[in-house]
Amino acid sequence: MRAIGYTQHLPIDDSHSLIDFEMQRPDPTGHDLLVQVQAVSANPVDLAVRRNTEPLDPQAPKVIGFDAYGTVTAVGNAVTLFHPGDVVFYAGSFKRPGSYSEFQLVDERLVGHAPTKLTPAQSAAMPLTALTAWEALFEQLGIDPHADNHGKTILVINGAGGVGSVATQLAHWAGLTVIATASRDETIAWTRDHGSDFVVNHRQDLVPQVHDLGDQVVDYILELSNLNQHWPEIVDLIKPSGHIVSITGSDTPIDLRALKNKRATFAWEWMFTKAYFETPDMGSQHQILEQIRALLDAGTLVSTLTKTLQPINAQNVMAAHRLLNNHHMRGKLVIQN
Ligand SMILES: NC(=O)c1ccc[n+]([C@@H]2O[C@H](COP(=O)([O-])OP(=O)(O)OC[C@H]3O[C@@H](n4cnc5c(N)ncnc54)[C@H](OP(=O)(O)O)[C@@H]3O)[C@@H](O)[C@H]2O)c1
Repeated sequence: MRAIGYTQHLPIDDSHSLIDFEMQRPDPTGHDLLVQVQAVSANPVDLAVRRNTEPLDPQAPKVIGFDAYGTVTAVGNAVTLFHPGDVVFYAGSFKRPGSYSEFQLVDERLVGHAPTKLTPAQSAAMPLTALTAWEALFEQLGIDPHADNHGKTILVINGAGGVGSVATQLAHWAGLTVIATASRDETIAWTRDHGSDFVVNHRQDLVPQVHDLGDQVVDYILELSNLNQHWPEIVDLIKPSGHIVSITGSDTPIDLRALKNKRATFAWEWMFTKAYFETPDMGSQHQILEQIRALLDAGTLVSTLTKTLQPINAQNVMAAHRLLNNHHMRGKLVIQN
């Protein structure tokens, strides 16, 4: 089967940074599905994976890529949730070969049935970002989407990126007032169209801008861009006993002591945690994707697709990675066959 990967850590402008190659098609066992991939998305994590310094086997390229839309062609003997012929979407696992290949093995507990009312590209745009946004809001921040959340406010730092574009929609669906950040006309308009009630500019101090909206502090903060840069603003703007989640990590230590007097809580979100550690609740990603599918098919959520490249090959993945590298993405970029 055809696949895309790398054998050397090269800058994305190098024409050999990703290569097309042939590899043996795998067979599914246990809980695995074999999926024929029709569309994939590009995520900032792909850049980090490609850049990292783990030793590489020059004879066996590392296949990258997360997010896929495709058709189940065979199943392992322990599979109960899917059948051959089912059309599915999923983000995948950090530890296994990625989705930039003709066929991919994926554990059924990480997979959902694909939306029926969206195009393959619109569907492929969603899984990784929707899982991240859902787990951050409804697991790590502890928001109950079915409770009465009116009067509660969330600040979403980076409202128009891939994750922010879903998070603002889900927070709006849960009944929260949503303040999102964006810095350019097109990202400001985009986040307003995707669930934000108010927009503030992350290139300027967020504190006076949020105060100007009438909020001295907010109940929840979802950090989706640069934790080190925004940490002092987060500490200032979180309500006493409020909740903060970050998906980005930090390259220098953050000072959690700054939250003590407000007794605010801080949590990380990593959407690969469940699959990476094979946690007992790993199957919750199947359930989340089934709920995302229902919300998409009902029109409650809309796909965040903004750009499509065709076909899935190394040249187009490299073009996608160059676009992600500039940190100005609005919504999601998909590559399809
Ligand atoms: N932990 C996890 O599970 C997980 C999952 C997914 C992603 N991530 C990470 O989360 C981050 C966001 O991912 P994404 O796919 O949503 O990103 P993305 O789509 O690449 O984000 C692009 C957006 O970032 C905004 N931005 C640029 N600089 C900013 C700043 N200093 N402060 C706030 N916003 C800024 C830009 O807005 P303007 O153009 O308007 O400035 C642009 O719309 C990445 O670092 C990614 O690796 C983590």
